[in-house]
Amino acid sequence: MATDYKRYTITSALPYANGPVHIGHLAGVYLPADIYVRYLRSQERDVKFVCGSDEHGVPITIRAKKEGITPQQAVDKYHELIRNTFADFNISFDIYSRTSSKTHYETASDFFLKLYNDGKFIEQTTQQYYDEKAQQFLADRYIVGTCPKCGNENAYGDQCESCGTSLNATDLINPKSTLSGLKPVLCETKHWYLPLNEYEGWLREWIVEGHKQDWKSNVYGQCKSWIDQGLQPRAVTRDLDWGVPVPLKEAEGKVLYVWFDAPIGYISATKDLTPEWEKYWKDPETKLVHFIGKDNIVFHCIIFPAMLKAHGDYVLPDNVPANEFLNLEGDKISTSRNWAVWLHEYLQDFPGKADVLRYVLCANAPETKDNDFTWKDFQARNNNELLAILGNFINRAVVLTHKYYEGVVPARGELTDYDKEVLGVLQNFPMVISTYLERYRFRDALSELMNLARVGNKYLADTEPWKLIKTDPERVKTILNIALQISGSLNILMEPFLPDSAVRLAIMLERPFGKWAEAGAPDLLPAGHILGKPELLFDKVEDAAVEAQVQKLLDTKKANVLANAVAAPAKENIAFEDFSKIDIRIGTIIAAEKVAKTKKLLKLTVDTGIDQRTVVSGIAEYYAPEAIIGQQVSILVNLAPREIKGITSQGMILMAENADGSLAFVQPSKAVVNGGGVS
Ligand code: 2FM
Ligand code: ZN
Repeated sequence: MATDYKRYTITSALPYANGPVHIGHLAGVYLPADIYVRYLRSQERDVKFVCGSDEHGVPITIRAKKEGITPQQAVDKYHELIRNTFADFNISFDIYSRTSSKTHYETASDFFLKLYNDGKFIEQTTQQYYDEKAQQFLADRYIVGTCPKCGNENAYGDQCESCGTSLNATDLINPKSTLSGLKPVLCETKHWYLPLNEYEGWLREWIVEGHKQDWKSNVYGQCKSWIDQGLQPRAVTRDLDWGVPVPLKEAEGKVLYVWFDAPIGYISATKDLTPEWEKYWKDPETKLVHFIGKDNIVFHCIIFPAMLKAHGDYVLPDNVPANEFLNLEGDKISTSRNWAVWLHEYLQDFPGKADVLRYVLCANAPETKDNDFTWKDFQARNNNELLAILGNFINRAVVLTHKYYEGVVPARGELTDYDKEVLGVLQNFPMVISTYLERYRFRDALSELMNLARVGNKYLADTEPWKLIKTDPERVKTILNIALQISGSLNILMEPFLPDSAVRLAIMLERPFGKWAEAGAPDLLPAGHILGKPELLFDKVEDAAVEAQVQKLLDTKKANVLANAVAAPAKENIAFEDFSKIDIRIGTIIAAEKVAKTKKLLKLTVDTGIDQRTVVSGIAEYYAPEAIIGQQVSILVNLAPREIKGITSQGMILMAENADGSLAFVQPSKAVVNGGGVS
């Protein structure tokens, strides 16, 4: 186990301040990072956990444009929202900074200048795509096209999010401006490039030879395949008006590429955190770990390390435990389609239940492959695991101690073989969980935590203190003492995963939960120690609560269908004489009832001005009979009568059809006399 480092610098990807954060962000990046950091702190290691908002780049300007606000207003708004959301989920950053900070501008500029002065860049004047209508160069997300590697038709000018490959805009097939939708033209412009090709040999040695064993196979595999394909120089500057200005006279109007400045944001955040920042970045005894999602692998494993190497003063990441993606109810999470569980909205719907989501997202984390979040699984994991296993065990141990001993921890008597076995097993758990955590296997670590609660539950179920209390009260003292020792250890071991619940349990046990080294000990809660009041750690998630969430998603799907509806093409032209054969009138519904044994049909009586007639209409799913009496509708009165379910239908009510198949009356916008013609 790698405990030989003096200190740890843990970073989690700086989220773009261009929208709220969702469950995919939490599961993929911030939760594993937070669990790891809390564990390191519990191990009393020297650790700094840094993050902040990524406030530059095209993602920001696109969002600002969409909302009709300035980029600065957009980042101010979302920085605040994201920061508060992370705090509400107890993501325990030592600092949550932002790349618009003064420190960051200075740090990023200095970094660029050092590389520039050391001759690490190549200057190139090349043809770049330009939107003649918008009158600007098209970098990154301002341009989309087909990825030459995987055929994804929506690859960006700097990266294909489908296969992860980093691209130059000129690599795209059929490029299109996202500003005007037009085909861009090529114009000359000068930029500064980091010649990644010169770092290929070094990267191969460092990653392929150096990290084959300890990096996750998804991360290692991607890196190896890029290196094998050969690396190209990457432009680190852009023709944009939003970003850190390139600190060169000859580069007026140009800014640093967001993926050049953003990772430097980790360094500037550390600078803002501590005057001792250098040792967290420059001392080889520092372990640097980047927590990211899989779309960020190329930037953290190839480009940023090459930048750090070119600079020369910095340590390199020891590991980059990137996760795959989390899907939602079988579909890819998507901000533009609003297909997400937004974290701030979750807390409005489930106040005080941050830990439940932390638990579910860790238990089902996309560590080795994409995974799916479903509300059914959320409910099951809360009710059958958190509540039935962990909560139930703690509750029984604490409640019985109150019931039999007024909350005072009883002394253990002579131990049976079973007692000794349980205490032995308890002692092993911290090491087992640690081993998983040190290897970034958070799901396995959490599952072992729950196994310890299972051991406790089984111990109580096997020994049945609630029965023994009548026949062998001395033995019950030993049993509850052991159950409480397990509870105390659970309290320490659960803290990285379930920090809110750990605090509540500590209050219940009347004992600060202490450090990792104490976990597993047989006397965490000494005899005579007085417990606090029992309290339920978790409560049931009811069917209605998850049904409401599922309904919310169904509504989103429906709204997306409507928003993306494309009108069917017009039918063939007809002559006016054909149209004039159709006799449509305005009539009033004067009676309505359901047609027996059908789901869709209503029998309507309509006053057409000519007569009162019966029409059978397939609208029962959209209109209740009692709600439509008195409404004026359009009715085709010269349609030949038809027999429907034994009723003669004399005409047809005209309906407008929505993209989702739902129907609405075609009605006059103000009252019209019955029999009025529609033409
Ligand atoms: O993908 C993203 O959301 C980027 N803003 C991540 C940046 S990570 C780092 F380099 F700052
Ligand atoms: Zn691709």
